[in-house]
Amino acid sequence: MSVMQNVKDVLLRKFKEKFAMDAAIVAYAPGRVEILGNHTDYNEGYTLSSAINFGTYFAVSPREDNEAHLIAGDVMQEVVFDPASPEPSQDRVWSNYVKGVLAGLNEKKKATHGFNAMFLGDLPLGAGLSSSAALEVSSGLAFAKLYDIDVSKMELARIGQRAEHEFAGVKCGLLDQVSSLFGQKDHLVWSDFRTYEINPVQINPDVCFLMCDTKVKHALVDGEYNERRRHCEEAAAYFASTLDRPIKALRDVTWEDWLEHHQKMDDLTARRAAHPIGENERVISGIEMLRNNDMEGFGRLMFESHESSRVNFENSCPELDTLVAGAQAVPGVLGARLSGGGFGGSAVVLAWRRDVETVSTTLRNIYANKYGERCDTRILVCSDGARVMPGQAVPAG
Ligand code: GLA
Repeated sequence: MSVMQNVKDVLLRKFKEKFAMDAAIVAYAPGRVEILGNHTDYNEGYTLSSAINFGTYFAVSPREDNEAHLIAGDVMQEVVFDPASPEPSQDRVWSNYVKGVLAGLNEKKKATHGFNAMFLGDLPLGAGLSSSAALEVSSGLAFAKLYDIDVSKMELARIGQRAEHEFAGVKCGLLDQVSSLFGQKDHLVWSDFRTYEINPVQINPDVCFLMCDTKVKHALVDGEYNERRRHCEEAAAYFASTLDRPIKALRDVTWEDWLEHHQKMDDLTARRAAHPIGENERVISGIEMLRNNDMEGFGRLMFESHESSRVNFENSCPELDTLVAGAQAVPGVLGARLSGGGFGGSAVVLAWRRDVETVSTTLRNIYANKYGERCDTRILVCSDGARVMPGQAVPAG
């Protein structure tokens, strides 16, 4: 039995014990790993990412009254609220992702009855693998089925994003939700956040991704993220006022533009802008390399991406830098970088599949030598996106 199947069975058992009924609907959403294109999504740029083999199951059954009972299945904490008008919670902040999604779905069709719901997953929290997006997407799919709401994948991604903005206070882009929804086995997800075109790109089966979780979560991460976004917007406004063509977002600024103008900008804004501009170009080169099966070249782009995070965007941290610098000298490693928002969380390492076990052990040792404790490592598998699980009949009520 697979580990995920086990998580689902545990959830269904806990659900029945707690609510004295079976779950009518179960949805599953994977976490994601970002491979290239850091902080490009809200700059209308490109990303390469993947849905992964860890995620969240969300189980729900209708109630006859108007109460929503929502339980976090790992800690068995419960919140009760009115599903027709969910409000952000100050103390049980985990519930805000679900409440925010419900608020978005209510705009399409108001919740007409209550529900019992519980969720459980195997994504490490705060590891930069988008456990919050997995919760938004799995709950969104389950509620859409429960209330018979017709919602497209892209609409659901936006609803999840709004939950982050309005219920959790993070001004994120759409990368996490899109990756969780559009993932495809053995492929990376190439997203264009201007046109919203999403395309699968095949990846050589002889390589694989390893995530190394530093378990570091620096304080004020959300504030840092929002600040980086603001700097990017300021930089885009500068280029819009200087270049004689329309500039809507940093997506429209090329590396040549940056080279020509950066000395006239204040140093901080210039460095912040360099990161998404360079990342966009790295995604485009990376796709070409994947198509030509140039995995060494692709790995080098990952190292360059990390260096730009470290120097320009300053969204790395010493623990991530230790892993990425260490990885450069480990045989079998092709590339490594931070993945996701940054300021802690995980590094993603690209390695030849035949070497991945030794790469994993070596990196854990490198980390332990410096910090006295090993980092967590997991082999990632590029996986299919979110779905409602078959076989759960919706009972009348
Ligand atoms: C977080 C956000 C995403 C994206 C990445 C950085 O994961 O939720 O929208 O901006 O950071 O690329």
